Order: sequence, then C-alpha cells, then structure tokens
Amino acid sequence: MTHAAERAVLSLDHDGDGPRSDLTPAQLRAGVRALQVCPDEGVALDTVLDELGAAVWAHGVRPLDVSCVAHLHPPTVVPAVVTELTIASSNQSMDSWDQAPAATEVELHLMDFLGGRIGFPSSASGIMTSGGTASNVLGLTLARSWAAAQLGVDVLKTGLPDEARSWRLIASDQAHFSVQRAAAQLGLGRDAVITVATDERGAMDVTALDATLAQLREDGLVVIAISATAGTTDLGAIDPLAALAQRAHDLGAWFHVDAAVAGAFIMSDALRGRLAGLERADSVTIDFHKLWWQPFNASALVVRDVERFDLLRVRSNYLDRGDERDGMVNLVGRSLDTSRRFDAAKVVASLRAIGRTTFAAMLDYLVSLSAYAASAIAASEDFELLAPASAVTCVFDAPGHEPDDLRRVQQDLLAEGAMVLGRTEIHGRAALKFTFMNPLATEGDVDQLLSVIAARLRSL
Ligand SMILES: Cc1ncc(COP(=O)(O)O)c(C=O)c1O
Repeated sequence: MTHAAERAVLSLDHDGDGPRSDLTPAQLRAGVRALQVCPDEGVALDTVLDELGAAVWAHGVRPLDVSCVAHLHPPTVVPAVVTELTIASSNQSMDSWDQAPAATEVELHLMDFLGGRIGFPSSASGIMTSGGTASNVLGLTLARSWAAAQLGVDVLKTGLPDEARSWRLIASDQAHFSVQRAAAQLGLGRDAVITVATDERGAMDVTALDATLAQLREDGLVVIAISATAGTTDLGAIDPLAALAQRAHDLGAWFHVDAAVAGAFIMSDALRGRLAGLERADSVTIDFHKLWWQPFNASALVVRDVERFDLLRVRSNYLDRGDERDGMVNLVGRSLDTSRRFDAAKVVASLRAIGRTTFAAMLDYLVSLSAYAASAIAASEDFELLAPASAVTCVFDAPGHEPDDLRRVQQDLLAEGAMVLGRTEIHGRAALKFTFMNPLATEGDVDQLLSVIAARLRSL
C-alpha cells in the first residue's frame, strides 16, 4: 500500500500545467474509453495507477492552480488527503456503534466542537452529511417534522397533515436552490418557498421580509421555517441573521441557517462577528468541502438541541434497536443515509494539524484577496464591479460587451486550459465571477487573471 500510495501521489504531479489540460470532450472520452473497466484478468496495480494518471489525473481540473477560480471548489490540505487513505482502509461505517465505536466518538466530538464555536448550548450536536445540499435537506426535513409535531402529527408515520397546504418556507432570492429542492422532496412543493428580495450586497432585505410576512399572514398562510443564508453562492452575502432569528422566534418557526460558505467564519476572530445571530439558529449547515479545504464529501448539519433528531428516527431490527448498552450511540438515528463514511476523521486531522491561528489566517487572507480583486476591478476601465465582495467571490461585467462576449471568453479560456473562470447572473445581468479558494494565490495572480480577461475581451 505504501508503494502504491507513493505511485498514486506521483501521478498527480502536474505543477505548472495550468488549471486543466486542453483536451476536448471527445479526446477525453477516447482516452477514458480505451481503459477496459473490468478485463477478464486483472492488470497490475502499478499499471492501473499509471493509466489513470495518464488518462484521468493529467486531464482533471486542478483546484490548486491559481487560474482555477470558478467555483467553491477548494484545493485540499495534506492532513485530510492522507487521512482519506486511513478512512478508506479502516472502513468504519458511521450508521451503528458496532461498526464504528471510536469513530462515532470522533464524529460526536467534532459536532460538539462546532456547536461550541457556533455558540450553541451544550444540548447541541450534529451529523456529518455528503454536502450542503444534503445538510439543507436534512435541516428543513427536521423543520417540517417539527411543524407537524406542533399539531400532534407524526409526519414520518402518517404523512403530511391537511394543514401542510398552507405551510410556507422563507428564503432570500439568492438562497441556494437546495432550499427549493428540499421543499419539493418534502412534499410541500417548490412553490412553498417564498423568496424575499435582497439588497445590493445580496443579503435578505428585512423590510421586504416584513412586508412578505404581513402578506402571508393576511392570506392565512403559515411560515414553518425561515432559511437564512450565511454566504450566498455568487456574492458571499450574509443575511441579517439576528433579525431573521427574531422573526422566526416571533412566528414560532424553525430557523435554519445555510452557512455552507461562510460557516468557516466561526473559526476567525476577525470574521466571526459577521455571523452574529447564528447562535440563535435551530439548525446550521456547515460545508467542510468548501472553505475548510477538505476533499469531497464533507458537510455537517448542527442542531441546537440533539433531541430534535428524534423527529427523524426510524428503528430497525438489525441496526438501531434501542436496547444498546449505555453510551453506545447509533448515528443512523440522525441521518437520511444508512451506511456512511467516516469523514469526520479528516476534518479533525486537518484542524489539529493546521491549528486555529493558521486556519483563520488562511481564511482572512482569502477574504482580503477578494476585497483586493474587487478594488482592482472597480478601478479598472475594462470592468465594472457588480456587487461589493462579501466573502471570497467577486462578480463583474465588462462595459461595452454583450453577455455573449462574456460567455465566449469564459468558454475559450476553459477549452484552452488557460483559466477556469466563473460565469453567472447577478440581478438579471450576465457576469463573470472569481471564487478565491486558494490561500497560495497572490494579488499579482489576481492582476494577471484580470489582464488575461481584459486582453481576451479586447481581441473579440
Ligand atoms: C450557499 C450554498 N448552500 C449549499 C450549497 C450546496 O452545497 P453542496 O454542493 O455541498 O451540496 C452551495 C453550493 O455551492 C452553496 O453555495
């Protein structure tokens, strides 16, 4: 295994080759299809690793490259990567204590740590999930079951009560689409999500929220949850959490915070103040595979009161029988999955090895790099900044150019393997987007990215 691991690591060595190779989709397909998935007789592992190196890793996207700036897609830290090897080799399964005795304690320990940093009471705990989407779906599932429980209905047993027709969830118009997906999956329907307008930064407008709430009340509709966003996907905006927490409290509604993006701010003395009100949430989504530099998959849903997970619990004869010895926790009772990876290990290994001071410095640096990019864009004649930089993203347009010009530049740079650049729409306007996830990137790199884009636009 040591030999194979070394060989696999060497096959990743493409330093200086740019954010991706310039192979076309057809060339990539041909290279991959040349590998027979399951030959009758196995091929030597060294050969297989070399083949994957040549056909796959050489043509993958490289999040560590400073020109890889499209998405919330991080380069990963070494403690996490090497811990992945032990996670896979030891193969603990997080559904039941008898498949993961020490690992269960690690996941619980990490959840307590997160609860502490969020500012939750000691009743808090959580569960690892496969991503922000899964965490949001889980949080809003609890919200729905909680609303039903208030009416004396066990929604897992008897389904949605008639009253559910009037249930509504509130989120901003910049909230992640997983909120709508959750509503759809929960049987409430996408239309049950009422979106509230945002300000120029992309944060929910409280005056608009109050008007929406008044209208819903007048229409006889019941708000069962407010889902705030701490760090929107495109603008990094943080909704006014304290104000939203108060509205949710006044309504008796569940307060969920999707902190998939800015949740990492709980680690930084300089940034955590921006999350004031987070400690009033009922549930919080934190994505480790974003600004915690973890390999996919790693996310968590943290709840202020661990007993809320009882709303989800399904007993089974073989797994979570309820007659275990004292202290044996079966985490399956908190999860929408059954078998589950021990991803908590890589997060703990990373945080212990990096330490909070350096972790916070990496984060603070990326926020300041985005602010630098925003000021460089604002000062440039080639570009127009479309919103202030709130976290690690920066969105901009190019005056005098059509949306199709932005599309061409982004797609040409991607096809050539020169830059993996983001493209989105902000308040109805086509935009280019930088997402800074790499703490090794410099202001000089930002200047270089901007000059490449400006030159491309001029040459159209
Ligand atoms: C604010 C927000 N929430 C949730 C998600 C979904 O996260 P995941 O891709 O891990 O499911 C994203 C993804 O970018 C996001 O930006």
